[in-house]
Order: sequence, then C-alpha cells, then structure tokens
Amino acid sequence: MNRSTTDRDTLISAAENRAMFDRIAKHYDAANRAISLGMDRVWRRRTVQVMQPVSGGRYLDVGTGTGDLVFEILRQSSDAVVDGIDPSEQMLAIARMKAGRRGEDKSVSFFVADAMELPMEADTYDGIVSGFCFRNIERRQKALEEMRRVLKPGGRLVILEATYPESVLVRLGYRCYTPLVPLVGRLLGGGSAYKYLVDSIEDFPRPVTVTDMFSAAGFSHVQCRMLNMGTVCIFSGGK
Ligand SMILES: C[S@@+](CC[C@H](N)C(=O)[O-])C[C@H]1O[C@@H](n2cnc3c(N)ncnc32)[C@H](O)[C@@H]1O
Repeated sequence: MNRSTTDRDTLISAAENRAMFDRIAKHYDAANRAISLGMDRVWRRRTVQVMQPVSGGRYLDVGTGTGDLVFEILRQSSDAVVDGIDPSEQMLAIARMKAGRRGEDKSVSFFVADAMELPMEADTYDGIVSGFCFRNIERRQKALEEMRRVLKPGGRLVILEATYPESVLVRLGYRCYTPLVPLVGRLLGGGSAYKYLVDSIEDFPRPVTVTDMFSAAGFSHVQCRMLNMGTVCIFSGGK
C-alpha cells in the first residue's frame, strides 16, 4: 500500500517491517558492523552514557533487535535489570542466544511488544534507550507518549537514530557512500532491506522536528547531539 493512502509515519507497514527484520535477523549484526564501518558500537556506548544507568536500576530497550544496547547497559552498569522489547521474534531469538552465550540471561528479559502499546505499568523504568528503531515506528508520536508513560519521574529517554545530514558538503559525501549500503546488505544476505534503510533515513524528519515531537510528548530538557557529521543523532529528554 502506498503511504499516501494511510496515516502512518513510515514508508512500510508494521507487518512489512516485522517480516523484513525477521528475514534479515541472522545477518543483522554483521551488516550493521560493515555498513557503520564499526562505528555502531561507539554510538551505542555514547547513547547509554547519555541515559546514565545507575547501580540496581531498571531499564528498557525499545526495538532491541539483537540486543546490543541491552548488553551495553549491562557493560556500563553490571547489576542493572534490563528489558528488551521488539515485534520481531527472529531478532529476539538472536538477542536471547547472545545473552545466553554471555551468561547474562538472568539480568535480561527479551519479549515481543510494540513501542506504540507498551504492556508495562506507568513509571516502571529508570531510563529507556532505543537504537535505530524510531524511524521504523508507524506512529512515532504515540510511541513517544508510551515511552514517557512507562518512564519513572526523573528518568531519561535516549533515542539513537540515523539522520539525513543537514550540511550540503556532508550530503555530497553521504550521496557517494549510500549507494554502497544496499550492495553490502545484499552481499550479507539482506536483500532489499538495505535499500529501505537508505530510503527511510531520507524520509525521516529533520532533527528539529524530532526534538519538537519530544517536547509535544511532554519531555523536558530535550536535546539532540549530532554524531558522525550529522548522519547519526542522539535525541534525549527527561520526565
Ligand atoms: C534497525 S533495528 C535496530 C536494532 C537494535 N536496536 C540495534 O541498535 O541494533 C530496528 C528494530 O526496531 C524494531 N521495531 C520496528 N518497529 C517497532 C515498533 N513499533 N516497536 C518496537 N520495535 C520496533 C525492529 O523489529 C528491529 O528489530
């Protein structure tokens, strides 16, 4: 279905999104590392640092995928309790396997849920992170409101997302690099998913629109930190 006939924010539907991530789950980590030139680890580390996990805190990773942000939270705060949610069973299967291998399966729970309708009570988490997921959510404002609802007062939501660069010069470099992304994705077994990745980044709202959405959802102290010359942003807001 063409998006012009729907009121969703995304290029593809939630069902198409879930099927796509189920399909690429096995190769997701390798493709991620290759496409980001290994920088994704640095961006995740920075994202969790912005959330500032504390000893004994309870945290949520929305759109956890294969769980790397969950593992980064545990790296920075080893006695934290972390939930990772995602609609894709296949992505979660990889996350659970990684947790088992790392011996961290006692401190984490991975389960199927959707950011637009979180199955937790209000004021549950000390902090929430979400990496490269927000772009894929059909109704992003609703998801922000849900994430704020389950955050405890004083907690912080931190969203890591790929963004289309603002600078004309950086856009030139970006335009040279992005045709390679679907090629790398295809080589690693991702089919057309990595063409969608590029298209969805260009379709994603500008950073100032995202910070306005945070404010409209009721977040305070809203910030956007640009990384990698504006091709990646860390958005944050407090409750
Ligand atoms: C690009 S992956 C990112 C995975 C992981 N956060 C990371 O940093 O590598 C995006 C993830 O968001 C999930 N996702 C898409 N729509 C979602 C929604 N409405 N609610 C929660 N997760 C969603 C997808 O299933 C997928 O696993």
